[in-house]
Amino acid sequence: MSQNFNAASLARENVKTMTPYMSARRLGGKGDVWLNANEYPIAPDYQFNDATLNRYPECQPAAVIQNYAAYAGIAPEQVLVCRGADESIELLIRAFCEPGKDAVMFCPPTYGMYSVSAETFGVEQKKIMALPDWSLNVEAIRENLPNTKLIYICSPNNPTGNIIDNKDLLEVLEMAAGRALVVVDEAYIEFCPQYSVANWLDQFPNLVILRTLSKAFALAGLRCGFTLASPEVIEVLLKVIAPYPLSTPVAIIAAQALDINGIATMKSRVATVTENRIALSEALSGLSVVEKVYPSETNYILVRFTDGSKVFKALWDQGIILRDQSKQPGLINCLRITIGTETENVRVIEAIEALC
Ligand SMILES: Cc1ncc(COP(=O)(O)O)c(C=O)c1O
Repeated sequence: MSQNFNAASLARENVKTMTPYMSARRLGGKGDVWLNANEYPIAPDYQFNDATLNRYPECQPAAVIQNYAAYAGIAPEQVLVCRGADESIELLIRAFCEPGKDAVMFCPPTYGMYSVSAETFGVEQKKIMALPDWSLNVEAIRENLPNTKLIYICSPNNPTGNIIDNKDLLEVLEMAAGRALVVVDEAYIEFCPQYSVANWLDQFPNLVILRTLSKAFALAGLRCGFTLASPEVIEVLLKVIAPYPLSTPVAIIAAQALDINGIATMKSRVATVTENRIALSEALSGLSVVEKVYPSETNYILVRFTDGSKVFKALWDQGIILRDQSKQPGLINCLRITIGTETENVRVIEAIEALC
């Protein structure tokens, strides 16, 4: 018997009007050069051969937590592991924000999931535009502090590639003390580890840091990320996390990725990506269709073209998939290009040269 069923009409009001996050995979494309999701271009090789899949995994697998704490130079009690940094963004809102009362703050142009997660939970969003040089507008952050519970600050920032100044971060941490958590998203910090603020954790109980294995560790498909914070914050997050956030294969591979060999391999990847980033930036800088190549400390570069959509489409048609950032505030004609292999980068350069 057919029934008159309309799932959309049953959804929560804020979900009815929501536009889902257009991840690189959802946007599709028929490419053979994938430079739109800031992934590492070559698959790492891990072995999984475990006979305990009949059992539930540990909620917080000890080997993963210990290895990550050692890698980050902090205590295991300051580490929470979950299904990617995206889950951390969401867990923080679920645990700390009351819909209709509290707000989250972030500084566009920046990573899109802070907004999507806040919208999903019906939590107010305060968007404090970055200044023209993409530094924080510290005074506007201060003015908007009342009822803000979480301040997401992405450093290095996606998609602009810049680092947030330590002095500004300190100022925000101090003004938010006792009132809000300052969440520094360090998804790309392996490409510039000297800028990490992980060593501030002991000093600032309201500091939270997000990390991931998706970028320099080359494991975007694994879905594994970390929240670094004071043990008190971690305890609150453990109240709302799923009972088994990581599958057994994920935990086994993550522990390998974080052992001494795994970390050495990650560092050599970072060196290669950095070399390729410098070469790609230099090659693009001189081209007539390029207005500006922004400096980057990451595995991607932001480029402003004279006509961004023309470049995007021309490369798309050749199977080179980039990320169009032109809808973000201040980023008209800007495309984000993930650093691929040397061969992939040569294809990008040749395809753009052909448009000059
Ligand atoms: C700044 C930033 N934070 C978080 C994430 C999400 O990382 P994960 O793959 O661990 O969910 C990304 C992914 O692109 C990102 O760019």
